[in-house]
Amino acid sequence: MNKPTKISPNSALNTSLPTLNIIGSGKLGRTLARLFSDAGLVTMGAIYNRNIESSQAAQAFIGSGRVTTNIEQLSSEPAELWMISTPDDTIKPCAEQLANLIGIDWKKATALHCSGLKTSAELIALQKQGCATASAHPAHSFASPEHSLSSFPSTVCTLEGNERATNILDALFSAIGGQVTTIEPEAKPLYHAATVMASNYLITLLGTSETLLKKAGIEDALANAVLAALMRQSLENGLQVGPVNALTGPIARGDSNTLQAHIKAIKQSVPELDSVYSSMGIQALKLARQQGYLDSEELAAIEKILHD
Ligand SMILES: NC(=O)c1ccc[n+]([C@@H]2O[C@H](COP(=O)([O-])OP(=O)(O)OC[C@H]3O[C@@H](n4cnc5c(N)ncnc54)[C@H](OP(=O)(O)O)[C@@H]3O)[C@@H](O)[C@H]2O)c1
Repeated sequence: MNKPTKISPNSALNTSLPTLNIIGSGKLGRTLARLFSDAGLVTMGAIYNRNIESSQAAQAFIGSGRVTTNIEQLSSEPAELWMISTPDDTIKPCAEQLANLIGIDWKKATALHCSGLKTSAELIALQKQGCATASAHPAHSFASPEHSLSSFPSTVCTLEGNERATNILDALFSAIGGQVTTIEPEAKPLYHAATVMASNYLITLLGTSETLLKKAGIEDALANAVLAALMRQSLENGLQVGPVNALTGPIARGDSNTLQAHIKAIKQSVPELDSVYSSMGIQALKLARQQGYLDSEELAAIEKILHD
């Protein structure tokens, strides 16, 4: 990934205060709109979601903007910036619908979507009309828009697309505290898979560990205390010294009997988690191998237990 050259938002946009229209103002859309708007980078224009209630909730959160009840009304909502922050599979059809609107001078506009997987090619219909297009993926979990307002700064924002669009988005995302970088379109699937594993699977890991503690009869508050301390500490260690140095536990120590006992208990109580435990264990074993502490016999014994 490469770092683009820095320029100011206004010079990049060639206008004093661009208008931003949003199609799909959910968790991410309303948060970015509020951040851009609060930073004085944009004037809010139209907000279009399929349900008027969700548009109204977005408008209330952002603090400005006009609720638009159908996509055709956007013909009379000129804007320099168009953000399509709908679910990934609807980005392309939304771009096609926008491109068919009468009376918009797309040559003066920039359109973006925020999918980690999809590239700016999803916006091809707008690109064909002369619009500058890009994808901009913030590596951030927008589960709570209110919380994201303060935690967004320092988020890595990965851009890909047309040069005019990426220059503009670099200026905008940098101005709200993003660390902007660029990515080749063909690298997006692996990049996005990595962010999904780090973010969503971390939460899934929390959920599966909670399930095991519950099966062990440990009440919720105590389970939360056990996992909060352990997960925070492990993550902190992993980020500070790297996964190879941070790995502890039975696989790193070569405690085969302990592993066998875990697998037996999981198979008896929560059999659907057996494959999860073993496949994560196989990845942990790769780290243990790199630590160089276990000999080949110990490594082979653990490998056999995890594959059986
Ligand atoms: N959430 C994250 O943490 C995160 C992080 C990075 C990137 N992203 C990306 O950001 C984008 C949005 O994700 P999100 O989590 O913000 O989704 P979300 O919370 O589900 O919001 C999607 C919004 O789009 C609207 N919508 C759905 N279909 C539509 C359509 N056909 N036309 C107009 N509006 C439509 C929905 O409202 P109605 O149902 O009322 O239409 C909703 O307000 C996705 O591309 C996602 O990959 C999300």
